Amino acid sequence: MENLVVKQGNKEEQYEILLPQIEALIAGETDIVANMANVSAALKHTFDFFWVGFYVVKGEALVLAPFQGPVACTRIGYGKGVCGTAWKEARTMVVPDVEQFPGHIACNSASRSEIVVPLVREGRVVGVLDIDSDRLGAFDHTDAAALERIAAWL
Ligand code: SME
Repeated sequence: MENLVVKQGNKEEQYEILLPQIEALIAGETDIVANMANVSAALKHTFDFFWVGFYVVKGEALVLAPFQGPVACTRIGYGKGVCGTAWKEARTMVVPDVEQFPGHIACNSASRSEIVVPLVREGRVVGVLDIDSDRLGAFDHTDAAALERIAAWL
């Protein structure tokens, strides 16, 4: 369990080692909250991201779910911010500079770039995985591809 934090290698190598471990962890547990909690912890502590967590669709809003990092906004409307846009458009959003994203919701002023991956069940978005970095341009297609695989396992 402890080796779920992968510190050696570049980002691609870190994901390569981390992903099978996350897959096994998720496969061994059916509870979605437990799995979201462990995925948040594994990603936060491997990559030292500023904030890693989930929002789940509840009625008209995305509601804060398990996360690692500072206290965050609890509710995000459909189409609002990066998360609400990923929900509405059902696609991964990579935002290299949050200040350039119209309507970005600043839960914390330290956040500089962001990636949001929708969780899709039977064609519907049921939640999102949201990661914030305190560095500009922290996320690219490598993160998107790896996080989309994690999202599919949840
Ligand atoms: N920045 C997000 C809000 C969630 S926090 O980053 C944790 C957005 O614009 O949707």
